[in-house]
Amino acid sequence: MNDKRQLQEPLRVAVLGSGNGSNAQSIIDSIETGSLNAKITCVISDVENAYILERARKHGIHAEFISAAPFKTKLEGDAEKKYIALMQSFQTEVVVLAGFMRIVKTALLTAFPNRVLNIHPALLPAFPGMESWKQALDYGVKVAGCTVHIVDEGTDTGPILVQKSVPVLENDTPATLHTRIQAEEHKAYPEALTALASGRVRLEGRRAVIE
Ligand code: GAR
Repeated sequence: MNDKRQLQEPLRVAVLGSGNGSNAQSIIDSIETGSLNAKITCVISDVENAYILERARKHGIHAEFISAAPFKTKLEGDAEKKYIALMQSFQTEVVVLAGFMRIVKTALLTAFPNRVLNIHPALLPAFPGMESWKQALDYGVKVAGCTVHIVDEGTDTGPILVQKSVPVLENDTPATLHTRIQAEEHKAYPEALTALASGRVRLEGRRAVIE
């Protein structure tokens, strides 16, 4: 997947998010401590007061709110065009969805082929969709976790890059389980991006092989 890039150059990553931005923070921290050879080109949010924008600005990263109206659950039409244009204007190589609560559609996936990543708070293919940690708890599984995957046209269906598991404890609430899963998310995204940045990811059908 990395044939065309110079591996010594930082991987150019755009981050899209709708909320707190703790995953974006983990990526920023990994870059600043030198463990991840990447540069965040821009952070874009569909929520004007999302904390992810403030986190980015604190680190001198270009951060913009771009409304995705009139759609409520997807990124399409004029808004989608604006997102793509901004990311391309910064020579973005990889798009990272970090708590971006919209479905991204074909135009964005085509602009960054096999280069849109998502983090999902469950061990896919179990519990796709919303509030997966609550789904896992209600189902009664004993092991939960998170997944970083390449985004394809389906919802939470693309090739898996990294998964991390956590135990489900007998006294867990949705909130305590989500907190435990998020702690692993903050390791999983930097790990996946480090593999991409160092050219160690190869796609074999729907299998993402990390060398
Ligand atoms: C994360 O837990 C992520 O897995 C989840 O949103 C949270 C965002 O947190 N994403 C989804 O549920 C996507 N379906 P953050 O804003 O602190 O990174």
